[in-house]
Amino acid sequence: MDFKVEIAKKISGLVDMEFDKAMELIEIPPQPNMGDYAFPCFQLAKVMRKAPNMIAVELSQKVQADDIVEKAEAAGGYLNFFINKKEYTRQLIEEVLEKGDKFGSSNIGEGKNVIAEFSSVNVAKPFHVGHLFNTMLGSALEKVYKHSGYNTIRINHLGDWGTQFGKLISAYKRWINEEALEKEPISELFRIYVKFHEEAEKDPALEDEARAYFRKLEEGDSEVTDLWQRFKDLSLREFSEIYKMMNIEFDSYAGESFYSDKMDEVVRMLREKNLLKESNGAKIVDLEQFNLSPIMILKSDGATIYATRDLAAAIYRKRTYDFYKNIYVVGGTQSLHFNQIFSTLGLMGFEWSKDCVHIGHGLVKFADKKLSTRKGDVVFAKDVMNEAICKTLEVIENKNPNLENKEEVAKKVGMGALIYTFLKNNREKDVVFTWEDALNFDGDSGPYVQYTYVRGRSILRKAGNVPDAADLSYLSTEDEFQMVKLLGAFKDSIKEAVERYEPFVVIRHITEIAKAYNKFYNTHPILNAEDNVKNARLLLTKAVCTVISTGLRLVGIETPENM
Ligand code: ARG
Repeated sequence: MDFKVEIAKKISGLVDMEFDKAMELIEIPPQPNMGDYAFPCFQLAKVMRKAPNMIAVELSQKVQADDIVEKAEAAGGYLNFFINKKEYTRQLIEEVLEKGDKFGSSNIGEGKNVIAEFSSVNVAKPFHVGHLFNTMLGSALEKVYKHSGYNTIRINHLGDWGTQFGKLISAYKRWINEEALEKEPISELFRIYVKFHEEAEKDPALEDEARAYFRKLEEGDSEVTDLWQRFKDLSLREFSEIYKMMNIEFDSYAGESFYSDKMDEVVRMLREKNLLKESNGAKIVDLEQFNLSPIMILKSDGATIYATRDLAAAIYRKRTYDFYKNIYVVGGTQSLHFNQIFSTLGLMGFEWSKDCVHIGHGLVKFADKKLSTRKGDVVFAKDVMNEAICKTLEVIENKNPNLENKEEVAKKVGMGALIYTFLKNNREKDVVFTWEDALNFDGDSGPYVQYTYVRGRSILRKAGNVPDAADLSYLSTEDEFQMVKLLGAFKDSIKEAVERYEPFVVIRHITEIAKAYNKFYNTHPILNAEDNVKNARLLLTKAVCTVISTGLRLVGIETPENM
């Protein structure tokens, strides 16, 4: 039973108001002593020709105590409802235990295809910490959408086409170290790519050579194509190791090269709609009516670019998946690009352009360095992950030297610490990374939440046999009720995360649950309580563990059984 729904029904029975309207108006009071739900009476004042506080008083007298509410109190213009704690507690704990890791799921998205594009790394370039942030965010978003019933399609729009491949081929022919290429492909490819830029500054003729190579690639020249394919295979070999460490999979790797034969059609459509304009030899679409700078479609040498491929990709995705939403998780620095793409699609007459969304995010900073691929100062995702795991292993060696499968635990906790750090705030905010914060087992951190789960699980193990059912009315303290309410609000946190495209809402919520449980554990006996109370508290503990592990899983964090 949904208590909010039941209260809305009561209200629409008492006054002249539609159920839906009542649902919309009901609020959660800011403090527990103001009840569990509040109904503002201000909108009724006009119709009833009475002051809101008078209406609240009248209504409070009409509400009868039952399985849903204990009482309703007037406070100013609000009618505060105090729900039936025992009933609520019983129903909620039973629901969590029955649904297990499906708790909080819904069918809001049933029958709707949602594309989650994320990661979208570049062939032959480092998988850097910015991509790591992006990948974690996109994957978490995909999971909360899936939990809400949407049919999600995970796309890695690989950066595997473009003039940079001309540069790379030119650099390869000049400076490659084959041995290094086989051993550490991306480092070596990145080294020659950086070198290309340094040399091209001295000798601009290199740029012409690179352009010629890219033209050859676009024309399908076999030698150049083979080299490109090799760069791609070697890069994907490294990327797949990273995805494996993160437990992340994709449904499609259709990247930029996939659209190389689909752009003629886009250019044709633009021309037919009279949208293509000439500008210094290049072809552009004017977007002045949207207050945006023009978008380039073809360069003066006829080469296509990033934006042309994105137009082709959006059209292909609509045809292939008939998406309800096409979500691009890409750094905030590309917001102009996506504005241009979506506006151009609109001009082309695709009304579904409104269903395309750019979900931007901030940068990752280490001691105020901005990450860039042109210079050499890039922080590799692989290095950060390995370091997190190593550092966690050290902590475990210190704190719990006899722990079994330390390596496995260190992986779960180290990765959890990273994911938590990247996703704990509003996604637009830059992540300022420090190891102290990430690996702090006491503060707001992944290890802290994981540790709360481990603690709960250890209590359940110590208890021996945990009953399947118990008289839950023994959960009678205010702390327990507040704990249960937090578990109940888990659903709302998922809904909010979906609506705002913000997985941090879920992380924050399970952190609140972890804090409340630790407080409860420190102030109330569980295993030493009398049998009825003990059994009820064990079931509460089980429910807490279920919700914490579900929330962590949705943001990509695994839960160890010991740590
Ligand atoms: N590969 C690009 C980068 O690393 C991101 C691609 C974003 N996706 C897109 N459809 N344009 O910056």
